[in-house]
Amino acid sequence: MARLNCGVIGLGRLGFKHAQNLAGRIEGARLLAVSDPLDAARNNFSAGFSAVNVYEDYQDILKRKDIDAVVVASSTNTHGKIVIDSLKAGKSVFCEKPITLDMEEAGRLRKTLAETTGYLTVGFMRRFDDAYAYGKKRIDSGELGAPVYARCVSRDPDCPPIEFAKNSGGLVLDMCIHDIDLARWFIGGDISRVYAQGGVLMWEELGKIGDIDHVDIDFTYKSGRLAHLEGSRNARYGYDIRTEVICTKGAVFIGGLRQTACVVLNRNGSLTDVVPEFLTRFDKSYEREMESFVSDVLNERPSAVTLEDGIAAVALAAAVNKSLKLQQPVEL
Ligand SMILES: NC(=O)c1ccc[n+]([C@@H]2O[C@H](COP(=O)([O-])OP(=O)(O)OC[C@H]3O[C@@H](n4cnc5c(N)ncnc54)[C@H](O)[C@@H]3O)[C@@H](O)[C@H]2O)c1
Repeated sequence: MARLNCGVIGLGRLGFKHAQNLAGRIEGARLLAVSDPLDAARNNFSAGFSAVNVYEDYQDILKRKDIDAVVVASSTNTHGKIVIDSLKAGKSVFCEKPITLDMEEAGRLRKTLAETTGYLTVGFMRRFDDAYAYGKKRIDSGELGAPVYARCVSRDPDCPPIEFAKNSGGLVLDMCIHDIDLARWFIGGDISRVYAQGGVLMWEELGKIGDIDHVDIDFTYKSGRLAHLEGSRNARYGYDIRTEVICTKGAVFIGGLRQTACVVLNRNGSLTDVVPEFLTRFDKSYEREMESFVSDVLNERPSAVTLEDGIAAVALAAAVNKSLKLQQPVEL
């Protein structure tokens, strides 16, 4: 059977997860090398994976002729450059979201991909979640009529680590980018107007680095359809990810608060658990998006989530941030 030899660049929370998956759970994949400039991240990884080469500099992965593909899960502000270097080195690339933090770099990414004719996909893993994929399939079947309105809620239970937040692009580019992608995916068609309001409601430390912890975003599509997206770091009760899509003949409601389908009852009342955080909620999706990456590259199929999807989401996030700054709607 054909094998895709892979490297993982960045060994933080998500890079470690992708490396774990590629090392043992993804059919057709073989993990040969990883890299991270942080000693602690490399040591943490080496402890469990002695057969994998561990480098400080990602260029050492790119130099290797026996490595076909890389997963870029480094800090967000490094994505663009690492992806461009990887494509130029002839590697197929999976890059975590967001693909870049700035639209000038998006242009360079587009040009490099066209020149190298390589493979590139972006980590919008919600598209690979069972519930999201099922909802999309039912809408696409036409049985529910046309999707006319989407309402997305993404609430994190905690303030992100401040060092992470500084390089993340902020709440909209880091977190709402998932819902921006979903709003495009479910409703379709161009968005012509963006209006956003937000601020710091809970975590003053985010305010000190110019970030916010709550945003409400309204999209108006050229077709007149609408979407409302809420992004928040303030759900002290758990990780709360839900989407509702209203269609002309029905609707889909996706997601919920419960991790386990069990209600415990006694004379004091009833109790359910709550999804604790993203690695638990989307565990299977991280595996599936990696399966899709590996199998698409091995079978020379086009990527399921394209560079243009990644760039469109970044462009909309930039419009949201502009609206927040101007405190008025932005026409696109
Ligand atoms: N799709 C999702 O659900 C999801 C969830 C979390 C994070 N992410 C994305 O994944 C990326 C990583 O997030 P994280 O939570 O793992 O962050 P993290 O801060 O835990 O890890 C980032 C790692 O990248 C390393 N790094 C920085 N520059 C590097 C370079 N030049 N080469 C190699 N490694 C480098 C850092 O040392 C760090 O270990 C971010 O872009 C984030 O937006 C996506």
